[in-house]
Formats: sequence, structure tokens, C-alpha cells
Amino acid sequence: PKVAVLMGGPSAEREVSLSSGRECATALRDEGYEVIEVDAGSDLAARLHEIAPDIVFNALHGRWGEDGCVQGLLEWLRLPYTHSGVLASALAMDKVRSKEAFRRAGLPVVASVLAPRDDVAANHVMEPPYVVKPYNEGSSVGVYLVHEAANGPPQLDPSMPATVMVERFVPGRELTTTVMGDRPLDVTDIQTDGWYDYRAKYTPGGSRHVVPAQIPDEIREACLDYACRAHDALGCRGVSRADFRWDEARGLDGLILLEINTQPGMTPTSLAPEQAAHAGIGFGALCRWMVEDASC
Ligand code: DAL
Ligand code: MG
Repeated sequence: PKVAVLMGGPSAEREVSLSSGRECATALRDEGYEVIEVDAGSDLAARLHEIAPDIVFNALHGRWGEDGCVQGLLEWLRLPYTHSGVLASALAMDKVRSKEAFRRAGLPVVASVLAPRDDVAANHVMEPPYVVKPYNEGSSVGVYLVHEAANGPPQLDPSMPATVMVERFVPGRELTTTVMGDRPLDVTDIQTDGWYDYRAKYTPGGSRHVVPAQIPDEIREACLDYACRAHDALGCRGVSRADFRWDEARGLDGLILLEINTQPGMTPTSLAPEQAAHAGIGFGALCRWMVEDASC
């Protein structure tokens, strides 16, 4: 079969996606597929028409590629594609609406509000510590941590969207669980010297990933269970990854679901392929599974 691997695109996570896409394209070639690499621009529909792939491998991240937009185009073109469909992608990328769905499903999430960027930059809209983030990007692009009231409100970059999300800061460890279809893979404990930001995410050695996480069974079971329920609550398909924070001192009550990623990174430093490898599923087999799972 001929597989078009979509990568790059115009989002803030363009470079991450180019890295994910190249890794997946190489792996799929090794698995015996005919692979065409496509940097997703405004001529995408015409390119796909010309290439006429059997399957589209979506390696895009962030706006347009992870939020239902490209998924809608692929539905329109009747091309089977990997990962989640239109609605699940749109919900997961909108961190406020996905939280509403998680809360309804009985999953633990923290309070957050949407506020105009200018208000957030002018005043503390919430008692610190809190986090400010775009409500529709990933990879910690444009994430601000406000520790103390005395420091004043955050100096937001003008490239931040007009509306931003303000979320209560949850202390504790950073845990993550990948779901593959209906199977949760494992729990990784992400250890960083500071904040798990863009640099820590994509610099080799920028963070240490302990898999399986050295945590109590009760917490591990909860991560696996919450990740599956979050995947189902939004109607996700294929592979997704749920990110948590766990405040050890508070036991199970300290475990909070931050978000779910419907296009988890597939770069050399990414978490989902690492968990798959730990479960005995190599990178090539993971990419093959995604292609075989594709639909529209
Ligand atoms: N947003 C990045 C790609 C991730 O979640 O892995
Ligand atoms: Mg994310």
C-alpha cells in the first residue's frame, strides 16, 4: 500500500512534527510500505489528489493537524487516516471543552478559566501559583508558570492567542500513559531538573523517562484506567497519550489528568514510542499498527 505521511504544517509545533514524520516515514519504508512524505501546506488537497495514497499517516501536531481540521479534509477526500477523527481531535485540542468531558466522565481535573490575553497580562486572574497556556497548542509552546503574587502577572508574548487558558498549578510528579486502541501501555515518570518545557521535551537528555514509573500500584492502576476512560470520553481512535500530575503527599487524591494528546510525538525523545518499546512493540511495529488501524 501507498502511505502519505503528513508532517510539518503551519503550527507552532512544526519542527516537532517534521521530526515525528521523518521517523515514521523511515520506519514505514522499512516495514515495506511505499511512502511519500508530505509537508502539509495550503495545497494539501491537491497534493493528496495527485499522490492518491491508500492511507494517510498523520504525523502533524498542534493547530490544523491535531484539532480536527486536517481530519475533516481527509474525511472529505474519503482517505483513511491514522489517529483520532474530527470530533475527538477538536475536543482534545480544546483544553477547556475536553476538561468538561473528562469531568462528566468522573475523571479528576483542575479548575481552569478562559480569559482575554490582555486581562491575564494586566492582573492575576487567579491566586498564584497558576499556569497560563494557549488553549489550543501542545509541546508546552507558550506556557507560563506564575509562582507568586509578588512577581506580578506574566509578560505574555504577543504571539499568544487573544484568549488564553489559566489553570491552577498542580504540584508534583509528571506522569504519562499511552493508549493504543483499547490497551493502556504503561506509566512513565518524567523527571526534569526544572519545568518539562519545550527544551526538556526535545533535547536528548533534557529529561529522564522512568518506565515503568516507580509508583504505588494504586497510582499506576489509576493512570492506566484514567487514560483509557479519557480516550473513550472524547471518542479517540488509535494511539493517544494522557498526561497527569501526581502530588505524592496527597495519595490518589493528588492524581490529576491534565490533558490528552491525540497526535502524541513520535520523535526520538518522545514518550509513546518508548512505552510501546517497553511493551515489546518496536517503533516499526507501532507505525504499522497505526496504518492498519487507519479509517475514515
Ligand atoms: N504535542 C506533542 C507532540 C506531544 O504531545 O507529544
Ligand atoms: Mg499536549
